[in-house]
Amino acid sequence: MDSRSTFSSRMGLVLATAGSAVGLGNLWRFSYVTGENGGAAFVVIYIICVILLGIPCMVGEFIIGRSQGANAVRAYAKLPKANNWWGLVGALGVLTSIVILGFYCVVAGWCLHYLGCALADNIPATSAESAAYFKNLNENTWYPVIWGIVFLLLTHVIVRFGVKNGIERVSKYLMPVLLFLLFVLMVAACSLPGAWRGVKFLFQPDWDCVNVNTFIEALGQAFFSLSLGMTCLCTYASYFDKGTNLVLTANQIAILDTMVAILAGLIIFPAAFAVGVQPDSGPGLVFVTLPGVFHTAFSEMPTMGFVISVMFYALIVLAALTSTISMHEVGTAFFTEETKLSRPAAAWIMTIITVIITIPCALSQGLVPQFSVLGMDLLSFLDTMSGNYFMPIGALLSCAVLGWIVPSDYVRREFVGSQPRLAVLFLPLIILLRFVCPIFIIVVMLSKLGLL
Ligand code: PHE
Repeated sequence: MDSRSTFSSRMGLVLATAGSAVGLGNLWRFSYVTGENGGAAFVVIYIICVILLGIPCMVGEFIIGRSQGANAVRAYAKLPKANNWWGLVGALGVLTSIVILGFYCVVAGWCLHYLGCALADNIPATSAESAAYFKNLNENTWYPVIWGIVFLLLTHVIVRFGVKNGIERVSKYLMPVLLFLLFVLMVAACSLPGAWRGVKFLFQPDWDCVNVNTFIEALGQAFFSLSLGMTCLCTYASYFDKGTNLVLTANQIAILDTMVAILAGLIIFPAAFAVGVQPDSGPGLVFVTLPGVFHTAFSEMPTMGFVISVMFYALIVLAALTSTISMHEVGTAFFTEETKLSRPAAAWIMTIITVIITIPCALSQGLVPQFSVLGMDLLSFLDTMSGNYFMPIGALLSCAVLGWIVPSDYVRREFVGSQPRLAVLFLPLIILLRFVCPIFIIVVMLSKLGLL
């Protein structure tokens, strides 16, 4: 299995990379963050963050990965004028991907469990029942641990088969299914009586809700959703060829990712408003609020309710899987290239290290509440640390290395590749990478720390 093979088609490349971006961030996180930050106004700010900061940072990661054709640690260390210390940025990326994969598998495991419940037509019927069910699941059973590990093993099996035969092949099937489910669910949710209030919530901005915090949340969400700042895209780009148009690819991925988030909003908010549930119930939205919502909304058509629930949880599981694959690949590429191990053995190392994080994260949700740090359960702590610090720092350093360390002639050559038309975009890109992105990220981090 050749870990340095390239994606075999442009379609495969875009679907695999978009698969990394489209995940729980779009379906679970986007909806509750939008719900908590006032709806449409947040969406507008989010889109601005994606265009001004997300796309340039994505192109930056692509340049680093494609120019070196190596795992993240080696890619950063080998950039011209960079020294071995820059390899630490890649190492931070590998570490972050292990941490995120560790807790992400717990949430994805919940989804798998709910998919099982939906298939058995066993989903709690009211929000109160859902809340008790979700609490009980975490406090009294080993299911979260087991489902988390099952999800990780599923990811492992795909990554083990390599870039072409594993990641690309699976993405080519899963992404179209995912988009199909999304459309069907959107039509079903928007046709519920009273659904228009949810649509309005998503599209009619209420600027009074906007404050500094809205910008912080929007930037964090954009980074998380586009898989930025943890060398995931850098690793995928190491499998791109020189003919890949990096700007076009970044635009396509950003558009797909944002479209999926908005479509997910068009499922969740109309359904919630149709049954009179407020959409600002935080991270529990998908596991506590929604099961009851689907049940109530389709109470007169129980079969429809059943089908919708199954489709919805299948959708989240697929989306999560295409993302966990990309996180796993960061470490697998690293262990394959930096040790003498075969790809399957390297994939096992990555899986085993991740399990060490997944288990306490799952237990910290209730069975063993002692697994907490700074007053937060382990899962929330790692989520906060990676989203608020590791990812922005990773993104900041990737902008810094391209903007300030690597000679700009080299950056230009690697950016253009074999697409001379891109040359005109180099100046705006370098201005964004040198000044706009770093300044914005620093301001956001300082205000998160309460220093601004
Ligand atoms: N972008 C993914 C999502 O939206 C999460 C992710 C983060 C994936 C970082 C890979 C790397 O869920």
